[in-house]
Amino acid sequence: MPMKRNFARDLKKGDTVDDAFFIAERYYGKKNVEYLIFNLQDKTGVIRGKIFDNIDKYIGIKEHSFVWVKGTVEEYQGRPEIRISEITEVEPKAVKREDFVLTSKRNLDQMVKEVLGYCAQVENPFLAQLLNSFFSDPEFLAQFRECPAAKRAHQAYLGGLLEHTVYLGRLVQAAKEIYPEEFDFSLLMTGALLHDIGKIKEYEYDVDINLSTQGKLIGHICLGYAMVREKIREIKDFPADLADKTLHLILASHGELEQGSPVLPKIPEAFFLYHIDNLDAKLAMVRELKEKPKKNNFWSEYHKLLETDIYFG
Ligand SMILES: [Fe+2]
Ligand SMILES: [Fe+2]
Repeated sequence: MPMKRNFARDLKKGDTVDDAFFIAERYYGKKNVEYLIFNLQDKTGVIRGKIFDNIDKYIGIKEHSFVWVKGTVEEYQGRPEIRISEITEVEPKAVKREDFVLTSKRNLDQMVKEVLGYCAQVENPFLAQLLNSFFSDPEFLAQFRECPAAKRAHQAYLGGLLEHTVYLGRLVQAAKEIYPEEFDFSLLMTGALLHDIGKIKEYEYDVDINLSTQGKLIGHICLGYAMVREKIREIKDFPADLADKTLHLILASHGELEQGSPVLPKIPEAFFLYHIDNLDAKLAMVRELKEKPKKNNFWSEYHKLLETDIYFG
């Protein structure tokens, strides 16, 4: 199989496409006649492809398979899409998986470095040891590095959790200057770095992201709670009160019972963590809307979780 050259993010009107993609979604459209729509994914993004002729011939091509696509790029409602002339399935073994998995645009190694820098800022020896028990474990770090932040909602790509954690680390650092007296910064930083680690067990991803059975049955808050509790138990003389506060930060991170937190934030650090977690997730949603096609020029599509559309005029 030749090396991939046509990447979704770079395609523009007039380009010729002759390359492999992963079918993220496949459905029918209708405008006078029925046609087939394929949402074609690679590591850089998703581009829509349409096929109008002889669609019976292509009905057997399934979602979540790899395909070879020939066609030309046209523009529809201000957004590039591929008018497909030919689409054929290719063997999963024949492609390089990394070319097709949606991945953060940011450099993963650099973000890992930044997170390790935040770990090093934690002064409390017990919390430093706790962080070390996770982040100096190469197996954990490899999983943490790649984990998505969600299946769909925000940062649903490899490196998404890492990106989210980096932003929270930065916000905690900023808080040190803005509210120097308000928080125990060792505790707050530890909470920011560990609050979502349950996600490494919540998601399964090969090319697309899915919830694991454990993720569906237990969820990342409880999974993360259990992971942290286990490590705390291994640390000699870890103060009981500090253990409870650390675990509370994870449990209260969604801030509301309806959002999956079994307790509401009850210490200052938990209150702050809940708000920055929510802030970063919402900003990521807005950022992702900005990249999507707009209605009436400047307005995004309605976003279910944000409960509004966003103006980018
Ligand atoms: Fe979470
Ligand atoms: Fe989070």
